[in-house]
Amino acid sequence: MTLKTIRGKALMGAALCATMLAFSGQAFADAELKVFVSSQHQPDVWRKALDQYEAKTPGVKVVIETGGNTSEMQAQYLNTVMSAKDSSLDVLMLDVIRPAQFATAGWTSDFSGKDLSAYLPTYAEANTVDGKIVALPAFADSMFLYYRKDLLDKYGIQPPTTWDELKEASRKVMEGEKNPELQGLSFQGKAIEGAVCTFLLPYWSEGKSLVENGKLNFDNKAAVDSLKLWKSFVDEGISKKNISEVATDDTRKEFQAGKVLFAVNWSYAWTHFQGKESQVNDKVGVARLPAVKGGEQTTCLGGWEFGVSAYSKQQDEAKKLVEYLSSQDVSKFMAINAALLPTYAALYKDADVTKTIPWFADALPVVETAKARPVTPRYNEVSETIRTTVNGVLAGVMTPEDGAKQMESRLRRVLR
Ligand code: GLC
Repeated sequence: MTLKTIRGKALMGAALCATMLAFSGQAFADAELKVFVSSQHQPDVWRKALDQYEAKTPGVKVVIETGGNTSEMQAQYLNTVMSAKDSSLDVLMLDVIRPAQFATAGWTSDFSGKDLSAYLPTYAEANTVDGKIVALPAFADSMFLYYRKDLLDKYGIQPPTTWDELKEASRKVMEGEKNPELQGLSFQGKAIEGAVCTFLLPYWSEGKSLVENGKLNFDNKAAVDSLKLWKSFVDEGISKKNISEVATDDTRKEFQAGKVLFAVNWSYAWTHFQGKESQVNDKVGVARLPAVKGGEQTTCLGGWEFGVSAYSKQQDEAKKLVEYLSSQDVSKFMAINAALLPTYAALYKDADVTKTIPWFADALPVVETAKARPVTPRYNEVSETIRTTVNGVLAGVMTPEDGAKQMESRLRRVLR
């Protein structure tokens, strides 16, 4: 795994400032904090937010560390660091599915006493484990349907509200465009964390839940239907044959290169689509994800949190930094500059935010009704079971029926 350390230019500034303070005889706390940031979520933009923090907090330097391109790879890295009781990381950016596991392992410090009422209730809840506040929200997230507005307009098609409509629209545009590089739909079929959501989207859309009060509530038919639906996109030529190798950022890159009509992805993708290297600037629409026929349009709740490592030797400084990173000002800054959804309701209507990202004005109800993946300290095993099955079916090594059967028996063993 490659690890990268980003030290900002402001670090030099801070060092200079520290030297000046030292010469002027003033005392200052000399702290260097290390923050683990998900590499997919614009560490360079977080760096700018940290530069601002350093500028107003003399004597404190902050270094970013990133590792792993996907959520489960990052978790693997953090598991290694934390199992070794390593004190080198002070602040950890954690996927919304992790606080329960990290808190149960004793890896996060307690923020209890902090008033969470300003945040979206979903995230206040996700960060409260057994009555203790174990982390503070970094940003909200959920999956959306990105589509090529220009192409749908050209063929007089409305954004689809069912997966069947999406197939029909894809066929029409693909036939019309005669571009062998153009895929109808890109989604995540690789055995990554995102594939858990891939599985759950149609499953939930049938109105089924997976886990109730910690117990498995598996619906075999909904599971088979979900796996069949995703496989049918490949079999019918709407998604590419090697979709079982496609991770979240691959979908983002292919869509950005103009090779995809519809894409299932998270909010961060938007900034890239509007970037200098994009082929689809101003051609992108965002809608709710489609439903299965007769079902409801649902999405998967994402988001990331900042926790303080229980092994950090700089607890107070680290907590102060997390308070800052989780503040409304930083949430707004990250929304505007990195398309990371705010954790404060008011920001979805903030004029500066909606000027840069108009569709955020309609995103709050989507996030508020998004469904959460199962919350359990054994989430790693639940995730692995689901994502490897989705991947196996898409790679053609098992049928949807066998996949669903195996998934159920493996999940039963984990969630006894
Ligand atoms: C996004 C979501 C996160 C999810 C991940 C899966 O980063 O915010 O919750 O687990 O994608 O790839």
